Amino acid sequence: MALYSEKVMDHFRNPRNVGVIEDADGVGEVGNAKCGDIMKMYLKIDNGVIQDVKFETFGCGSAIASSSMATEMIKGKPVDEALHLTNKAVAEALDGLPAHKLHCSVLAEEAIKSALLDYYRKNNIPYDEAQFSEKAECSHGCCAEG
Ligand code: FES
Repeated sequence: MALYSEKVMDHFRNPRNVGVIEDADGVGEVGNAKCGDIMKMYLKIDNGVIQDVKFETFGCGSAIASSSMATEMIKGKPVDEALHLTNKAVAEALDGLPAHKLHCSVLAEEAIKSALLDYYRKNNIPYDEAQFSEKAECSHGCCAEG
């Protein structure tokens, strides 16, 4: 069986929503301490709905595919819904990622959360801090090795 699903390869080769939103309402940047990869996420939000989303990733193929898929999953969605997007849902939408690459999808989830946090703060919107608590960069144990 191929290491990467066709969906991963597709989103890696033709990533959706790559770029910058100059007048973004929320910008988030996260880095993965383990591999050094960086992801930046831009959100354009109107009336609590994500109208546009763009990302830049300096990272591996799985990180590119994950951010591409994640942006597609939150575009047009209310911010509350985007906040609940999990890396697991992103990995599933990609038809899976190899275990040692799951942390790359965590980067996408965290980048979106970071951009949403920026949006909430800039607009003085109350938010539940618990939803943004610093969590381990990988909840699957895959980052513990090597
Ligand atoms: Fe760094 Fe995938 S190896 S994000």
